[in-house]
Amino acid sequence: MALRLIVKEGDPVLRKKSRPVKEVNDRIRMILDDMVETMRDAQGVGLAGPQVGILRRLFVVEIPTFDEEGNIIDTTLYELINPEIIEASGEQTEEEGCLSCPGLTGTVTRPSHVKIKGLDRNGNEVVYEGVGLTAKAFCHENDHLDGILYIDKATNVHPVGEDPEEEEEDGE
Ligand code: NI
Repeated sequence: MALRLIVKEGDPVLRKKSRPVKEVNDRIRMILDDMVETMRDAQGVGLAGPQVGILRRLFVVEIPTFDEEGNIIDTTLYELINPEIIEASGEQTEEEGCLSCPGLTGTVTRPSHVKIKGLDRNGNEVVYEGVGLTAKAFCHENDHLDGILYIDKATNVHPVGEDPEEEEEDGE
């Protein structure tokens, strides 16, 4: 396993449409391993192929589960190849960030429930259902495969810790 360099916003690779993975082989599994390691190292909840310079349709997502005190007690790792959102419903408006847009956050409205299908690392078809943060992450990572960044959809994009809207309210 190896850490990969995360491509940053402004690099044209993030704006290209990724091609499907033709064959799930050892090379793809190695890329997934590297992506999981890179995502964890960067403390992200998701990472898509283009973010490590690979224009193939695959992403990883890792969602923590918290106990009542807010401690992480478990995590669920999703690895999806050739993903396709097959159902989307509801709505949530939440803060988002992206490892390719470091130091920024913004507000995006997404479905609150999605069903996504794809292939796992063994080439078997899988279907996952996500709600809340998981649904948001699936949509965000899936967008990367079409060259879409959350900042394209977000309102109030600003540096983390400096919310211009809150400052306005404070000033009143
Ligand atoms: Ni992202």
